Amino acid sequence: MTPNDRFDQWLKGDKKAITEEELAGYQLFKQSGCTICHNGAQLGGQSFQKMGVVRPYETTNTAEGVKAVSGRDQDRMKFKVPVLRNVELTYPYFHDGAAQTLEEAVEVMGDVQLGKRYTKEETAKIVAFLKTLTGEQPKIVYPILPPNGPDTPKFEPWKAKEEAKK
Ligand code: HEC
Repeated sequence: MTPNDRFDQWLKGDKKAITEEELAGYQLFKQSGCTICHNGAQLGGQSFQKMGVVRPYETTNTAEGVKAVSGRDQDRMKFKVPVLRNVELTYPYFHDGAAQTLEEAVEVMGDVQLGKRYTKEETAKIVAFLKTLTGEQPKIVYPILPPNGPDTPKFEPWKAKEEAKK
């Protein structure tokens, strides 16, 4: 499900839902090739891809990605392509949490995945676009429990164990 963010509203035909800068960011996102990996309704989550296609990703973290599961060398540094919906809220970024801001994450992606060095303006446009993917957050309503009294069941897990032994 998509969170009915401003990008969704724009896709549904509300041309005023996003600004010119955000639209320019979307176009740059597509033209640069970010959509090779970040695609589908969630702009990601569809595949595992190498982190560091054009240039090795520098990190002190020792995670090996999919290789840790498959044992195959060609899976080294492959990670699940993250979903970009609500990405504004899901910092820090990358498997090692090394990027604190969206600006940094976009610069690193351009550099190591596509061999592009964005100008500050270009990065700002892409970041502006990514922020249109912030949707309505689910509201969690906590139940109000009755006050504790003599009839309230007690949490006594050891009793269940004793029962099971019988
Ligand atoms: C070759 C595939 C590929 C391309 C092309 C690509 N990405 Fe990524 N992207 C990934 C993978 C894989 C990760 C996860 C890396 C990790 O966890 O270390 C990622 C992570 C990210 C993140 C961090 C998300 C998070 O929650 O940690 C952002 C933001 C992002 N990409 C944006 C972009 C942008 C913008 C572009 C274009 C400039 C782009 N990506 C191009 C594969 C790709």
